[in-house]
Amino acid sequence: MLKAVILIGGPQKGTRFRPLSLDIPKPLFPVAGRPIIQFHIEACMQVKNLKEILIIGANPAPQMEAFVKEMQTIYDVSIRYLQEFTTLGTAGGMYHFRDQIRAGNPTAFFVLNGDVCADFPLQQLHDFHMSKNKEAEITMMSTEATKLQSIHYGCLVIDGETGAVNHYVEKPSSYVSTFINCGVYITSIEIFSRMAAVFHSRQQNFNNLNGSRDQGHIQWEREIITPMAGTGKLFALPVTNWWSQIKTAGAAIYANRHYLELYRRTHVERLANTGFKMTENDGTLICNIIQNVYIHPSANVHPTATLGPNVSIGPGVTVGKGVRLRESIVLDNAVIEDHSLILHAIVGRNARIGCWSRVEGTPSDPDPNKPFAKMENLPLFDNNGKLNPSITILGSCVTVPSEKILLNSIVLPHKDLNRSFKNEIIL
Ligand code: GDD
Ligand code: GTP
Repeated sequence: MLKAVILIGGPQKGTRFRPLSLDIPKPLFPVAGRPIIQFHIEACMQVKNLKEILIIGANPAPQMEAFVKEMQTIYDVSIRYLQEFTTLGTAGGMYHFRDQIRAGNPTAFFVLNGDVCADFPLQQLHDFHMSKNKEAEITMMSTEATKLQSIHYGCLVIDGETGAVNHYVEKPSSYVSTFINCGVYITSIEIFSRMAAVFHSRQQNFNNLNGSRDQGHIQWEREIITPMAGTGKLFALPVTNWWSQIKTAGAAIYANRHYLELYRRTHVERLANTGFKMTENDGTLICNIIQNVYIHPSANVHPTATLGPNVSIGPGVTVGKGVRLRESIVLDNAVIEDHSLILHAIVGRNARIGCWSRVEGTPSDPDPNKPFAKMENLPLFDNNGKLNPSITILGSCVTVPSEKILLNSIVLPHKDLNRSFKNEIIL
C-alpha cells in the first residue's frame, strides 16, 4: 500500500503571491478551474494502490478542512489535513505526524511540494524506485534548468547509468549542475530513522540553540537529502515532463495554460467548445472559444464574447457583450462589463470591470529560445525600487470604472479606482 504527503507550508509563506493569497491560501488558489493542490490529488489517483493522501501544513484548519471534505466527495481515497502548530520545516511536519504516515504499513510514500505544478510522473517514479530493490531510500523527480537559473533550486549530480545522486547542493551560490530537484519524491519508511537522528541531535544541542526556531524544525533538503548524496541511497529520475514552481501570480497564469493543455489528454470534457450547449430547460449559445478555455457551469458568458487562448472562468462570473479575454483567470462572481479587454491578468473575486475598459499585464513566461528555461520568479520590485513588469492583478472586490486603462498594475482588495493606472501598486 502507498500513501502521499502534500506539503503546503503556512500562512506566513507565499508573500510573492500576494494579494491573491490574502483571502485564500495559495494551495487553494484555482488554476484551470481547480485548486492548485487538487492536481496533486488527481495525480495520486493515477497511482495503483495509493490509499491515503495527507496534506501537511500550518494553514488554519477551517478552510483546509472544507477543501478536504469536498475532495472526499469526488475521490475514492482517504484524504486528511494535518495541521502543524507552527511551521516545522519541510521535514519537521512529516516527522511530527510520523505515526499517521506509518499507520497501515505503507511500503513507501510520495512527498509533493504543494507549490509546484506538473504533469506528475508518479507511477513512473514509483516503478523506478522499486526497481532499485530496497537500495533506494528516496527517489526524486528531476528536470533540467538553464545554468543561470539552476542555482535557485536544489542541484544534483546524477550517475547517468544508475540514477544514483552523487552530489546534492540546495540552492548553491555557484553553478553545480543543470539537473534540479522538482520537489516531488517517493520515499521508504526507513526515512523516519534519519529524521529521528536529526531531531535527537537537535535536542542534545538544546542549550546551544538560542530558541529562535522550534525544536522540531527539520529541513528535508538540507538535513535529510544533502547528507544522503553519495551514499547510494538517494536516486533521481530525470524527466522531460512539463514542470514549474508556483511562487508568483505570473506563475499561476503559466500553470493555468499548461493544466488546460493537459486536460486535452486527461479531461477533455472540462474544456469549453464554441457552439450550442443544452441545459436542463433549453439550449444556450456559447461564446467564441479559442482553445483552451475552462468555463464554470454557473458562469454567464455572453455569446458575442471571445475567450482564449488559456482562460479560466470561475463560478458565478458574468462576462458581457463583446468582451475579449486572453491568458487570464477570472475568479468567483466577478463581473466584466460589455466590450472590455482583459489580457495577462487575474481578476479577483467579486471584482467589477466597467464597459470599454482595458486591463493588461506583461507575461512572465520562460524564455522560449533557451532550452530548459524556467520561469523567473521575480520579486515585486527590482533593486532600484521599481516595480518589475508583471501580469495585472485585481484583488477581490476591486472596481474599475468604464473606459479606463490598467497596465502592469497590482490592485489590493476593495479599491474603487477612479482613473487609469500604469506600472503601479495601488494600496
Ligand atoms: N508543512 C510544511 N511546513 N510545509 C512547508 C514548510 C513547513 O514548515 N515550509 C515549506 N513548506 C512547503 C512549501 O509550501 C512548499 O510546498 C515546499 O514545502 C517547499 O517549500 P520551500 O521551503 O519554499 O522550498 P522551495 O520551494 O524554495 O525549494 C524547494 O522546492 C524546489 C522545487 O520547487 C526545494 O526542495 C528545492 O530543492 C527544489 O528545487
Ligand atoms: P516568499 O519567498 O515569501 O514568496 O515565500 P515562498 O515562496 O518561500 O513561499 P512558498 O511558496 O514556499 O510557500 C507557499 C505556501 O504558503 C503555500 O503552499 C501555502 O501553504 C502557504 N500560503 C501562501 N500564502 C498564504 C496565505 O495568504 N494564507 C495562507 N493561509 N497560506 C498561504
